[in-house]
Amino acid sequence: MNFVGSHILGVEQFSREDIARIFDVADSMAPYARRERVTRVLEGAILGNMFFEPSTRTRVSFGCAWNLLGGEVRETTGIKASALAKGESFYDTARVLSGYSDLIVMRHEKSGSVSEFAAASRVPVINGGDGANEHPSQALLDLYTISRELGHQGKIIDGMRIALVGDLRFGRAVHSLCKLLMAYQNIQLTLISPEALKLPGEYIVALENKGHTVTESHALQSGIQHADIVYVTRTQEERFESKDEAQKYKGLFRLNQEIYTEFCEPNTVIMHPLPRDSREDANELDNDLNDNPNLAIFRQTDNGVLIRMALFAMILDVVEQIDATSRNVNWYTSRRF
Ligand code: NCD
Repeated sequence: MNFVGSHILGVEQFSREDIARIFDVADSMAPYARRERVTRVLEGAILGNMFFEPSTRTRVSFGCAWNLLGGEVRETTGIKASALAKGESFYDTARVLSGYSDLIVMRHEKSGSVSEFAAASRVPVINGGDGANEHPSQALLDLYTISRELGHQGKIIDGMRIALVGDLRFGRAVHSLCKLLMAYQNIQLTLISPEALKLPGEYIVALENKGHTVTESHALQSGIQHADIVYVTRTQEERFESKDEAQKYKGLFRLNQEIYTEFCEPNTVIMHPLPRDSREDANELDNDLNDNPNLAIFRQTDNGVLIRMALFAMILDVVEQIDATSRNVNWYTSRRF
């Protein structure tokens, strides 16, 4: 695809070559994300960071990614603080905000909302998550992490074995990841969820039609036994009719060090889009895994900055200018990686 000036609304717009290109540009962003070099390539540009649903890492990492390229960020958080609460349409909001920004990132609880917004926007829009539908930048950072983690083990995405665990029905990160996997070959997926939170059938059909193998399971222990990647997700309680209903599914699949040691292969990589629900009644990814070197969750969050910088640079057509406008940082870098 031609990235310049494009919206990023869902992952189906990417070919395998597009994904490889994003990953290459993401690699080249490492010195900036590590605070070794600085660039002012987006000096004067403004990001409209519009998060109408709760967010920590997606919102902040998009903002940091823009800042690391030298641009300024204007942020709106929560519906209540915006004119959407006064009945303003996406069309009007998009027309207005795109007059103030060079690019907009938007998250909203309604499926399809970001596309509706983008259709009226005068600048490129990136989907930061629209309801249970899509979360393209998350899927890209997840797949980037998978490719780098497997790469250390001499493996590639094609042919990998991945177990997806938890709320596969409402989890948009999983939905986008499954769609992104369509660009690859011969993947073995084990879907571990309660019956009511199964991955919607259309994803399974599409994965199988692409030649991938899909196995469904209700048991964590047996499901994670032969996996290169175990990708755990949170029960998306905000998408249930009631909190009581969501409560039924919390804490059903808890991965801890003991289970990992007994059932996983020695190098199985543990992933989660985060936030992990660490409350007593959920505790889906136990804190006792924090020192497990295969726990990749914070490498995922770090990688999110690289991927988001790459998307900005490609959409705004500054990739080739970055190194030319860069210099070493002035300050002492005490960051440990
Ligand atoms: C995910 C999301 O918002 O879809 N979080 C994120 O962006 N990293 C997953 C979740 O909230 O469970």
